[in-house]
Amino acid sequence: MSDSKSVLVLVGSLRAASVNRALAEALAANAPAGVAVSVYDGLGDLPFYNEDVDVAPGDGELPAAVTKFREAVGAADAVLIVTPEYNGTIPAVLKNAIDWGSRPYGAGALAGTPTGVIGSAIGRFGGKWAKDDTRRSLGVAGAKVVEELSVELPAEVTTGTPVADVPGVIDLLRGAVEELVAAEVVAA
Ligand SMILES: Cc1cc2nc3c(=O)[nH]c(=O)nc-3n(C[C@H](O)[C@H](O)[C@H](O)COP(=O)(O)O)c2cc1C
Repeated sequence: MSDSKSVLVLVGSLRAASVNRALAEALAANAPAGVAVSVYDGLGDLPFYNEDVDVAPGDGELPAAVTKFREAVGAADAVLIVTPEYNGTIPAVLKNAIDWGSRPYGAGALAGTPTGVIGSAIGRFGGKWAKDDTRRSLGVAGAKVVEELSVELPAEVTTGTPVADVPGVIDLLRGAVEELVAAEVVAA
């Protein structure tokens, strides 16, 4: 087992000024020692999941965006999802990615991968439903969900203050990654 751990971050918002993307990028720039954090670029390139397109080797060619995504998830020691909430649940782009990561059944890229979910949303409950639904979906997809990973982000992250200027937020994010990596060590 290598001393250095890799955490791949999937962001549930595609917009350029996304608060959640800013959180993910702040985390990548301030990762704990011994952990390489990278933010996945390309969730929006994934086609809608379709079993007809999800062909087995020898039966045709998978879309390049799917191969890239599965390889990136497969190579990571752990996956951290940073997401807002859309209409009381998980954003579609993220659910689509989980669906691609869940197949082939029992051997998908997410199978056995330690995963955690954090995020920020402006609603009264801070995106609780999205986080709960994401955790449930990841669990059904075969990922090892770190249930204890819960980060209450300060309200300022959604009110225009640059993430890096919000007191304590970097420490909260780093703590989440440390917890996730500790779970990966236990699972390995
Ligand atoms: C289509 C849509 C639906 C939304 N639904 C919710 C919601 O159910 N709960 C909530 O807390 N915020 C909701 N929001 C507000 C988001 O939390 C807010 O826009 C957030 O900053 C988006 O994250 P981002 O900055 O990473 O893009 C919604 C936003 C959009 C665009």
